[in-house]
Amino acid sequence: MSIQKVGVVGCGLMGHGIAQVAAQGGCEVVVVETERGFLDKGMARITKSVNKLAEKMVEKGKATEEQAQAGAAATLGRISGSLERGELNDCDLVVEAIIEDLEVKKTLFAELGAACKPETIFASNTSSFPVGEMAEASGRPERFVGLHFFNPVQLMRLVEVVRTERTDEEVFAAAKAFGEACGKTAVSCKDTPGFVVNRLLIPYMTQALQMLERGDASKEDIDAAMQLGCGHPMGPLTLTDYVGLDTTLLILQGWKERYPDESAFDVPELLVQKVAAGKLGRKTGEGFYTWEGDKRC
Ligand SMILES: NC(=O)c1ccc[n+]([C@@H]2O[C@H](COP(=O)([O-])OP(=O)(O)OC[C@H]3O[C@@H](n4cnc5c(N)ncnc54)[C@H](O)[C@@H]3O)[C@@H](O)[C@H]2O)c1
Repeated sequence: MSIQKVGVVGCGLMGHGIAQVAAQGGCEVVVVETERGFLDKGMARITKSVNKLAEKMVEKGKATEEQAQAGAAATLGRISGSLERGELNDCDLVVEAIIEDLEVKKTLFAELGAACKPETIFASNTSSFPVGEMAEASGRPERFVGLHFFNPVQLMRLVEVVRTERTDEEVFAAAKAFGEACGKTAVSCKDTPGFVVNRLLIPYMTQALQMLERGDASKEDIDAAMQLGCGHPMGPLTLTDYVGLDTTLLILQGWKERYPDESAFDVPELLVQKVAAGKLGRKTGEGFYTWEGDKRC
């Protein structure tokens, strides 16, 4: 089963990156948005990123100017943007990267299931929802996987390929091969909350918040300890500011609702308070730290 034409739904932070790496992997890509403004912004981001990559290849001596420009033009030539959902109907694979709202995603997949050719494989880039629920909504659960890329997609080398109990082996293998064609290391995971990375990372972040709440150590010391003691590029509280306190809270609350007996999903009161106060992290200029753009003050 080979994947040649890929549809990407949503051209935001993740969707534009997925469209780019799929085209770099040789696929023909159509990316679908709801509004012209979002589409134009996403397509401009792709163009900028593809051209930047070409410049870097020249700088590093990996390609001549001519080769790099030809490569960039070929990648961009394989990507088209559209506001017409019908453009997805003949895709071999459709990857969904719209807002993290389960009901909206299920509605989208029900509509895609009715419109796309029977062979089309569906994938969701969800970070926190059960893939199986969207798979059932699509009406073709055996042709459904999770493809969880990481931000920024162009740079992060991992994709988690998630199978439900009903995913066909052949479909799973095709999705994994697609992830590898996108230049990623593809790890397999069952349909468990947070898959591998977030299942480990979110409870780690909440443990750090609980340490801070108890007054065990200051935020600076917790962060320095994990950076210098474990070699992490940033400490857990800086990381929470980066991810967004609201996003972290939403994920945790969703998991707690589904798995009330799992203590790893306990919601720290400090997180609830910060979000209620509008201190969402880097994006609002204040979370656990204050921020000026991408810089921690
Ligand atoms: N941001 C991250 O770090 C990250 C990492 C991994 C996975 N994810 C997941 O990826 C998904 C997308 O996140 P994002 O950060 O790219 O969000 P985003 O808000 O940047 O982009 C979402 C885009 O989807 C578009 N959209 C919404 N509904 C649509 C529809 N019905 N049809 C077409 N387009 C539609 C919006 O206009 C928007 O441009 C979410 O499920 C999120 O959980 C995010």
